[in-house]
Amino acid sequence: MNFSLSEEHIMIRDAARDFAQTELLPGVIERDEKQQFPKELVKKMGDLGFMGIMVDPKYGGSGMDAISYVLIMEELSKVDASASVIVSVNNSLVCYGIEAYGSEEQKQKYLTKLATGEYVGAFCLSEPEAGSDATSQKTTAIDKGDHYILNGTKNWITNGGRADVYLVIAQTDRDKGSHGINAFILEKGMEGFHIGPKEDKLGIRGSDTHTLQFNDVKVPKENRIGANGSGFRFAMKTLSGGRIGIASQALGIASGAYELALKYSKERKAFGTEICNHQAIAFKLADMYTDIEAARMLVMKAAWDKDQGNNYDKSSAMAKLYASKVAMEHTVEAVQIHGGNGFVKEYHVERLMRDAKITQIYEGTSEIQKIVISRSLIKE
Ligand code: CAA
Ligand code: FAD
Repeated sequence: MNFSLSEEHIMIRDAARDFAQTELLPGVIERDEKQQFPKELVKKMGDLGFMGIMVDPKYGGSGMDAISYVLIMEELSKVDASASVIVSVNNSLVCYGIEAYGSEEQKQKYLTKLATGEYVGAFCLSEPEAGSDATSQKTTAIDKGDHYILNGTKNWITNGGRADVYLVIAQTDRDKGSHGINAFILEKGMEGFHIGPKEDKLGIRGSDTHTLQFNDVKVPKENRIGANGSGFRFAMKTLSGGRIGIASQALGIASGAYELALKYSKERKAFGTEICNHQAIAFKLADMYTDIEAARMLVMKAAWDKDQGNNYDKSSAMAKLYASKVAMEHTVEAVQIHGGNGFVKEYHVERLMRDAKITQIYEGTSEIQKIVISRSLIKE
């Protein structure tokens, strides 16, 4: 076991930290308030290689490992979880999905642009009647020979109004259940593809979440990903990597809140001393740091499993389950340590607390992670 980061990993982490502090931090409160998608910053993240972190350089990616990915995600998420979810979806759902399961033509046509940040991607699995119960897909993709016709609704789609490329999961043969599902690449502007209004959210308000409607959208057969009927397994395998991204987002939100709380507690005085000298506050800091370190171990283990070629279904679910719990619990504590200042925007911790909640919901709720973990334990 080696608990130290390589020099290269430290450089990557520091580059992400520097970018987060100099580029993301200045406008983060305004973007949250106005629900502004960070378009220019996404371009800059593309220039830095953050939009295709693990993609092979031959497709325009940075060719880094999953450890680098979680280090970057943590640093971005400490400051701006809206920016980091854009990075997470683009990297671990869309780029990974196409690189691991797409055809060479799909990689040349789409991945090369997604990996550089020229295109932004979206991953469309959830529906009004199929969220946790993802096999109950109602969107249909009817095989018409050289193309498919898609009809249906997807909701809660991150990057929904801003993406160029959409990976869409749909049911082709209902009788075959999860084996009758396919995944397709859709492009913005395809006839019959409508983008609904933007959601007004509690947190990650700088990210862009929309309902999408498909009315007889004609999708060429070459846009199907993988073999006929492989779409559900494609979605599940891709989500296992996505959960590493969201786990590292949760870790970043928690550690960002902890760092702010530690700093504040060393400056703020009450009853004649800095508040960190009151044991009630000091113990909160001790609990926060311990839990964050434990979450970091799980996140790193999941990333390491991916890098080693091990199965990471269970380790990614464990990392997401635990890191999101730590993020929720300790962002609340960070607000508490800030007292009244914690309740106002300029101290940042109230935003981190609002942003933390989504990490227990998307890419599989905490209850779903427990299903994945327990099924894996029973099978083992
Ligand atoms: N790898 C390969 N195959 C898998 C798999 C995996 N990880 N997980 C399931 N499968 C296979 C099963 O083996 C099974 O195949 P067989 O019939 O051949 O045995 C088939 O898929 C169906 O699996 P289950 O019977 O386990 O299906 P289920 O109906 O019980 O559901 C579930 C399983 C884990 C609950 C799944 O529905 C799930 O993960 N739900 C949560 C959905 C989710 O995470 N949505 C996230 C949307 S994206 C998002 O949220 C992005 C964002 O916010 C930014
Ligand atoms: P439901 O499935 O209706 O669940 C409701 C409650 O019941 C939850 O607490 C759940 O855990 C619990 N529950 C359900 N089934 C079980 C069970 N078997 N055992 C125990 N408890 C259970 N989806 C995408 O496809 N792409 C995206 O880009 C995307 N981005 C999102 C961004 C945001 C801001 C949000 C809010 C959601 C996003 N989602 C996205 C959707 C997200 O993945 C779903 O909201 C999530 O999977 C839960 O589905 P649901 O909302 O339908 O809840």
